[in-house]
Amino acid sequence: MIEMTGIDKAFNGNVVLKGVNFSLEDGEIHALMGENGAGKSTLMKILTGIYERDAGVIKVNGQEVNFKSPKEAEALGITVIHQELNILPDLSVAENLFLGNEQTLGRTGILKTKEMNKEASRILSQLGLDIDVKTPAGQLSVGKQQIIEIAKAIETKAKVIIMDEPTAALTDREIQTLFKTIHKLQEQGVSFVYISHRMEEIFAICNRITILRDGQYVGVRVIKETTFDEIVKMMVGRELGERFPERHAEIGDVKLEVKGLTREGYCEDINFKLRKGEVLAIAGLMGAGRTEVAQAIFGYRKMAKGEIFIDGKKVKITNPLHAKKHGIGYVTEDRKSEGLVVDFSIKDNVLLTNLDKASNMGIINRTKEKSFVSDLIKKLGVRTSGPMQTAKSLSGGNQQKVVIAKWLGDEPKILILDEPTRGVDIGAKKEIYQIINNLAEQGVAILMISSELPEVIGMADRVLVMHEGKITGEVTKENMTQEKIMYYATGGDKVVQI
Ligand SMILES: Nc1ncnc2c1ncn2[C@@H]1O[C@H](COP(=O)(O)OP(=O)(O)OP(=O)(O)O)[C@@H](O)[C@H]1O
Ligand SMILES: [Mg+2]
Repeated sequence: MIEMTGIDKAFNGNVVLKGVNFSLEDGEIHALMGENGAGKSTLMKILTGIYERDAGVIKVNGQEVNFKSPKEAEALGITVIHQELNILPDLSVAENLFLGNEQTLGRTGILKTKEMNKEASRILSQLGLDIDVKTPAGQLSVGKQQIIEIAKAIETKAKVIIMDEPTAALTDREIQTLFKTIHKLQEQGVSFVYISHRMEEIFAICNRITILRDGQYVGVRVIKETTFDEIVKMMVGRELGERFPERHAEIGDVKLEVKGLTREGYCEDINFKLRKGEVLAIAGLMGAGRTEVAQAIFGYRKMAKGEIFIDGKKVKITNPLHAKKHGIGYVTEDRKSEGLVVDFSIKDNVLLTNLDKASNMGIINRTKEKSFVSDLIKKLGVRTSGPMQTAKSLSGGNQQKVVIAKWLGDEPKILILDEPTRGVDIGAKKEIYQIINNLAEQGVAILMISSELPEVIGMADRVLVMHEGKITGEVTKENMTQEKIMYYATGGDKVVQI
C-alpha cells in the first residue's frame, strides 16, 4: 500500500534520516520503533507531506507521490495523529472533530452545526466516549483528546492512520478502548503505523515492526517471529541488560508526611508518609487525582484541608516558591504547557530554575552557565546539537530529559516525578531510572506518579493506588503485581489486563 525507499532528510545540514526504507501492507498494524531522535516522527511527517524529503521515493498503491501538504495525503486516505496533539482547547469537541472538514449547507458557508454535533456524538460513542460534544475540548483529559483525534481520522474515512505515540498519555482502560478501536478498523481494512516506546503494546497488537537507529534503517521483523531482546538490540545496537537497574538505597526517616489532604472534587483525605531514600509510587487511572495531590503538595493548587510536614515539622506551602525553599522539586507530567518553554533553548530552559547555579552574587557568569548546562546535558544523555538548540526541535524523549535536568540542578530533597518517562525510549528510560536510583541512594525522597505498571513494579519500594480521588490501596514491594494494582485502581471491582 505504501512504500518508501531511500529516504534522506537533513535539517540545516544535520542529517536525521539516511536511506530509510519503510513499507506498509493493506490492513496491517506496523510498528515503528527506535530511540528518541531516531527519526520516526520525521519519517512520518515526510510521508504525509509536512516535511519535504531530500531524496528517496514514496509510492502509494504503486503510484509515485509527492505530497506537498497533509491535505494532499489526506485526499489519498493517509492521516496522521501527531505526538503533539492538535486540539484547539477553546473549540468544542465537535468543532475540533470537523476542523478543516466542516459540513456546510450547500455552498453557503453556513455550518450544519446540529448535524455535525450528532455525527460527532455517534463517532465518539462508537469509540466508547460518551461526552457532550459541545464541551470545550481543552476541558477534557489528554486521553479523551487523543480519542477525539482518532475520531477525526475516522471521520475523514482514512485508509491509513499513523499514530505517533498514541498511548503515552493514556491509562490501561483507555488503551483497551484504543486497541479495540484499532482492531475494529483493521477488520474494515484500515492500516496503521504505530509508533510507541512500549514494547508490551507493540507485541500485543502489531503485525510487523520496522526499526530505526540514528536515522538509519536497521530492519523489519514479523512480530510473531521476533523477541523483546532482538528488538532492543536492533534499536540500541547492543544488549541493554536489565530494564530496571538495581538500587542500593537506605530507607531512612520520614521526610514528608501528608495528612488529610483534600481538594474538593479532586482528592479526598490523602494520608501518607515518604521516607528518605524511598521511591514511593502513586498508581491509578487517568483522572484518579494523582496529579492533583502532587500539585497541592507543591503549592500549585490550594488545598481545602490538610497538613504537610517536612522532617516532622509542619510547613505551609501556598506557592511553588515555598515548595522549592523546602527542598521540593517537581517534574510535571505535561512538558509542553508546564515543563518547558518550547521556544527557548535548552540552556535557557535549564537556567530558568537554576539561575543561582550560574551566577556569582546575582551576576550571571557565562562560563559557569555553559559548564553547568553542558554537565547536565551529558549526565542525562540529551541528544542535541548543543545547549543552544531550541526545546521544540528536540525529539519528545529528549525534551523530557531537559525537564528533568531543570530540577536536578536544584538538588531537591524531595522530588516529585509525574510520569517521568512518558514518551522516552527504552535506553533513555533506563538512564532516567538510574538517575532516580542515584538520587534515592543520596537520600532524596522520591514520589513517582506513573501509569506504566511495569515501571511502577520495577522501580517502587511501595505503591499507593488511587481511584476517584481516594487512596484505595497500598502495595509493598513483596506483593506487587499488575493485577493487584489494577484491582485497587479500578476501585476494587474489576481487573483490566493488557
Ligand atoms: N524541525 C526540526 N528542525 C531541526 N531538527 C529537527 C526538526 N525536527 C526534528 N529534528 C531533529 O531530527 C531528529 C529526529 O527527530 P524525530 O522527532 O523524528 O525523532 P523521533 O524518533 O520521533 O524521537 P521521539 O521518540 O523522541 O519522538 C532529532 O535529532 C531532532 O532533533
Ligand atoms: Mg517522535
